[in-house]
Amino acid sequence: MKEKINKLFSQQLEKINDPDLREKVVEIWTDAAKKAGWQPHELEKIPFTLLTQTKGINLIEHTIAVTEGAIGLATAMKENYKEMPFEINFDWLVAGGLLHDVGKLLEIEKTDGGKYQKSYQGKCARHPISGAILVAQAGLPEEIINIVACHAKEGEERPKRIETVLIHQADFAVFDPMVMLEKRLLII
Ligand SMILES: [Fe+2]
Repeated sequence: MKEKINKLFSQQLEKINDPDLREKVVEIWTDAAKKAGWQPHELEKIPFTLLTQTKGINLIEHTIAVTEGAIGLATAMKENYKEMPFEINFDWLVAGGLLHDVGKLLEIEKTDGGKYQKSYQGKCARHPISGAILVAQAGLPEEIINIVACHAKEGEERPKRIETVLIHQADFAVFDPMVMLEKRLLII
């Protein structure tokens, strides 16, 4: 499982400078996948959400898209603002992007019929909560806990780090069009 996760996220993991943080990101994903009973080959089949039709977009693709999207936004600000009003920590941003939906490994389960549904654990605690617990248990910085805990609706009106804001916006930028598509509000 660890090898598979390392391979899936290799390009993003390379962008984390702190080797300890890089290792912990992989460990958290590995432990969560094992705990939930996923097999390595199943990872790229898990839908990225149960809230709308995913049209084949899986959790791994979504995680990479959100992480890269947030890196793009952060880079655009850094390269174009003469004065940055705040500092962006790229290690936290990339680690937080890779971990923002790790709780979905616990929130989503496969039925005997091969479909996907919300797990009992997912009903008790949505992925931002279960993910934040995993991140906290691994001893990651508070700032990454903020990213995972507050990237979705749980973070509305809550204080956030800039890295959390960027992950949230990147997440909804790729999620909203899927909802709009289902509601026939996306012009295609
Ligand atoms: Fe997400």
